[in-house]
Amino acid sequence: MPLVRMKGITKHFGGIVANKDISVDLIPGEVHALLGENGAGKSTLISILSGMCHPDGGEIHIDGEVARIHSPQDAIARGIGTLYQHFMLWESLTVAENIVLGSEGHAVVLRLQEVVDRINHLSRNYGLNVDPNAYIWQLTVGAQQRVELIRILFHQADIIILDEPTAVLGPQEVGSLGEILKSLAAEGKTILFVTHKLDEVMRFSHQVTVLRDGRNVGTFRTDQVKPEQIAILMVGHQVPSAINTTHPLGPTVLEVSTLSALNARGLPALKQVSFTVRAGEILGVGGVEGNGQEELASIITGLWKSQSGTVTLNGVDITNASPSFIARVMGYIPSDRVGTGLIPRLSLALNTTLRSQARRSGVDRWLLDLKAIRRRAQDLIATYRVHPSDPDLPAHQLSGGNQQRLLIGREVSLDRRLIIAAQPTRGLDIDATYQVHQLFVDLSFKQVAILVVSTDLEELLKICHRILILSRGEIAGTIDPDTTDRTAIGLLLAGQKGDPRAV
Ligand SMILES: Nc1ncnc2c1ncn2[C@@H]1O[C@H](COP(=O)(O)OP(=O)(O)OP(=O)(O)O)[C@@H](O)[C@H]1O
Ligand SMILES: [Mg+2]
Repeated sequence: MPLVRMKGITKHFGGIVANKDISVDLIPGEVHALLGENGAGKSTLISILSGMCHPDGGEIHIDGEVARIHSPQDAIARGIGTLYQHFMLWESLTVAENIVLGSEGHAVVLRLQEVVDRINHLSRNYGLNVDPNAYIWQLTVGAQQRVELIRILFHQADIIILDEPTAVLGPQEVGSLGEILKSLAAEGKTILFVTHKLDEVMRFSHQVTVLRDGRNVGTFRTDQVKPEQIAILMVGHQVPSAINTTHPLGPTVLEVSTLSALNARGLPALKQVSFTVRAGEILGVGGVEGNGQEELASIITGLWKSQSGTVTLNGVDITNASPSFIARVMGYIPSDRVGTGLIPRLSLALNTTLRSQARRSGVDRWLLDLKAIRRRAQDLIATYRVHPSDPDLPAHQLSGGNQQRLLIGREVSLDRRLIIAAQPTRGLDIDATYQVHQLFVDLSFKQVAILVVSTDLEELLKICHRILILSRGEIAGTIDPDTTDRTAIGLLLAGQKGDPRAV
């Protein structure tokens, strides 16, 4: 007997049909996976279920009754807890304070100490490893996600909805989140989770629903369907799995030498890290998030300061250069696409100019260029298949994956000889992920040097010429994707101490 029945849910945004007559049943004790291409309507359906957004048509039934969910408070009152694609935490507050604030409207006024105790209890029970007194800004994305999950459990939600929870996690963390979801289901909770990864669907879900162009194109028992069938339903064709990356490499472009730095908490984040990236080389930096990867990318791109050591580009020292200088010499795809990457309220057209504007000066120049900016943006939108394609739309109206396409398009079209890419395919559907991999490999054939930081080891193995594993700020080992076997990689990763900032 389903606990949640969504019946004929329809939602338009202007001329766009985000959800069209979608019906899905969610059963207690089961994990239900929801997947589909970027822009297929997954987040919209979730927003409707969690009261963030109003459907134009259709009904939601909970426990056999029509549920009127007009606000997030209504959803929480009906036992629905949601983990969104973009987290909803106050950076400058602690974990416990965030959870207290989220409890406003609950009848009982909670004392902070009680909250701290309950967080510790939930954290232990579910193996979530969250310190109630840590500030959000000190936490890695993986740890912030565990805070969101604690918040949901704190409110005793029976229905737990997660929008792409694994996109921000490394392989081990994905495994443990999957186990947590399965054990929550075993306790009788009803779970709906969005993912782009077919192996997660196969490993963690009981049922799977595929959306395409806003419609439900199929709901299956997971054990009765093959991943290839799901892929074809989702994107309409097979997605190739291997890419040829072999070609000669050129001279050294980027050299990082004995680089040391502290993290935002003042603790050592990088210790004497040295490596080079050659022209035409794709160098991967892998490992569990929070082991120095983010600091490394930030220092190279001028957004964080090193303590000692040097960064040179084509032999020129660029250590601790300003971000505006760096913008002129390399492309940068940051891991947080809204924030460092895009400005959500600006139009797509203006977002495409954010980094190239560093070169220009004078308001007149800017005004005169508006037409040209729009035209160039239209080209970029077409090349990188951003949907919808209207350059005047504000960026926040794009789905997560389409924002990522815009960001990648902007940085790649700057035509730099070096690109730093952090979690470049986070949130992209399988087809778009393949396109980005192919794009990077094509650029490497044109002798562009690329540094890819990713928690997704499969991604690094597919496209990189070499992979460094960072562990506690040090290079724990180097992987040659062609010769290193899986057991050796497993041992390298197993040797990792995990996430030092997550305490
Ligand atoms: N607030 C909004 N205003 C206008 N259009 C929107 C808004 N939110 C979503 N859309 C549009 O609705 C469609 C569905 O978007 P949605 O975010 O649900 O996709 P998704 O399946 O979650 O994609 P992704 O995998 O990229 O996260 C897209 O075309 C998107 O641009
Ligand atoms: Mg989405």
